[in-house]
Amino acid sequence: MNDPLPLVIANLKANKTWDQMSAWLNIIGPKAESFAGTVIVCPTAAFLAATFQKINSAGWQIKLSAQDISQFEQGAYTGEVAASQIADLCRYVIIGHSERRQNFNEDDNLLAQKAQNAKKAGLEIIFCIQNPEAKIPEGVNIVAYEPIFAIGTGHPDTPENAQTIGERLKAKGPYTVLYGGSVSPQNTKSFIKQGILDGVLIGANSLDPQKFIQIIKTAS
Ligand code: PGA
Repeated sequence: MNDPLPLVIANLKANKTWDQMSAWLNIIGPKAESFAGTVIVCPTAAFLAATFQKINSAGWQIKLSAQDISQFEQGAYTGEVAASQIADLCRYVIIGHSERRQNFNEDDNLLAQKAQNAKKAGLEIIFCIQNPEAKIPEGVNIVAYEPIFAIGTGHPDTPENAQTIGERLKAKGPYTVLYGGSVSPQNTKSFIKQGILDGVLIGANSLDPQKFIQIIKTAS
């Protein structure tokens, strides 16, 4: 992990058509330039290639992440996206998001398999955990603490608790630690100002480009 901190990550989930995504990039792209940290965008897998091309032709300082990858390596797995298929487009991949664990029954074994595939393909893993005791697979450098009660609810964890958990995680290994869960322009600073947490992972408040720009600015 050698991109500059803090990491500010927009997880767009299954939101936006390509036209909307393209308009979002047109607003965020020029603003990412002056940010001392790293802006990472996670579009749907369907838009990874088009987003890659758009970012590169404009020369914007935005890194690309997938929201997920298959547990399988290449082969007869209809509908899946293999790590090796996105490795030329993305530097990062999210693994273990609570929405994957809850809605798709992803467990520790499956997540370890995904992490192994990601590592083999040369991807940097953003591994989401919902509590500090969660298993973190081999090869993970970036851990995002995302308590379930805070995701998409407008009720973030307290910065104090998130920092305590950040310290606990850092005692376990040389992790870059992020916080996610109802991060907003108003609370971004409180999470990262102590220097314990190395960035934020944003869902809902990344969808509106103006709010996301405010988050980038407050993280600077
Ligand atoms: P939220 O989502 O910002 O909407 O709470 C965070 C996430 O799902 O990573």
